[in-house]
Amino acid sequence: MESRLRLFTGNSNPKLAHDIAERLDMAVSPAIVGTFKNGETRVRLEDNVRGCDVFIIQSTCMPVDHSIMELLFMVDAARRASAKKVTAVIPYYGYAKQEKKTSGREPISAKLVANIIRTAGADRVVTVDLHAPAIEGFFDIPVDHLRAAPLLVEHFKHQRYSDVVVVSPDAGGVARANDFRQRIRASLAIIAKQRPRPDESEVMDMVGDVEGKTAIIVDDLISTGGTLAHAAEMLLKRGAERVYAVATHAAFAESAKRTLADSRIEKIIVTDTIQVPLNGEDRKIECVSVASLVGEAIMRIHKDLSVSALFH
Ligand code: R5P
Repeated sequence: MESRLRLFTGNSNPKLAHDIAERLDMAVSPAIVGTFKNGETRVRLEDNVRGCDVFIIQSTCMPVDHSIMELLFMVDAARRASAKKVTAVIPYYGYAKQEKKTSGREPISAKLVANIIRTAGADRVVTVDLHAPAIEGFFDIPVDHLRAAPLLVEHFKHQRYSDVVVVSPDAGGVARANDFRQRIRASLAIIAKQRPRPDESEVMDMVGDVEGKTAIIVDDLISTGGTLAHAAEMLLKRGAERVYAVATHAAFAESAKRTLADSRIEKIIVTDTIQVPLNGEDRKIECVSVASLVGEAIMRIHKDLSVSALFH
């Protein structure tokens, strides 16, 4: 019988989409996803999707608003072409840091984007390591929230560090760091961070013993790289022997690579939820692919199997 599974990709991370398709032993279906001369986004799915289980793979990374529009139009196109189910696969969910107001007269952008994705016609969302797990509740449709930790942990299991401490670089990341710590049986330290201005961070204090230890900072995303660089300074000042860092999403701002290269972190492990071209100068940065994780989740959703079973 002809397969009813279809994968499409926008322009934000086609490499990951093709890697996912390869894991599923299929191809990404053709689509035109471009721009008209007047700047408007143009979409056309070039494969029949009638009655199909359609997965649209698109990280909402830079250019963030454009990536979101491509995703919305692709969902709408699939819906109007009589797809049976449409799943938005958003390996990196942009605007996730705007999940609450930090002062008056601000939007809750992560919630509004969730509303729009639902309105466009998505039946389900698949995503990886949301900045705040509560964002799942912003959607009135099922969300499969995948965790990259099992993949990232693998990277450290083969290393022979004697005394390891896992570090949360801010209070908001404690649960994430604690989960990582439990997986590698290490101790935990927590840094208190503040943001004097947007995109700037300052380390205020730290709890936990890091002296003589290998410190692994665990974060969900890297933007400017300031959080990690400042955390590393604090850890070394408190006697850590060496510092590594792990972050799922390489949402690098322009200055990030330089900041990380200049920092005293020995190695930084990220995933390919966002495509970052790495060259010789980026020797500290290593990338772990989430293609197998996302591919397995897609297959399980398509076959109505448990997705949470992936994490036990
Ligand atoms: C903050 O709550 C996040 O978890 C990251 O720590 C933060 O977004 C990293 O940003 P930057 O690299 O600009 O310091």
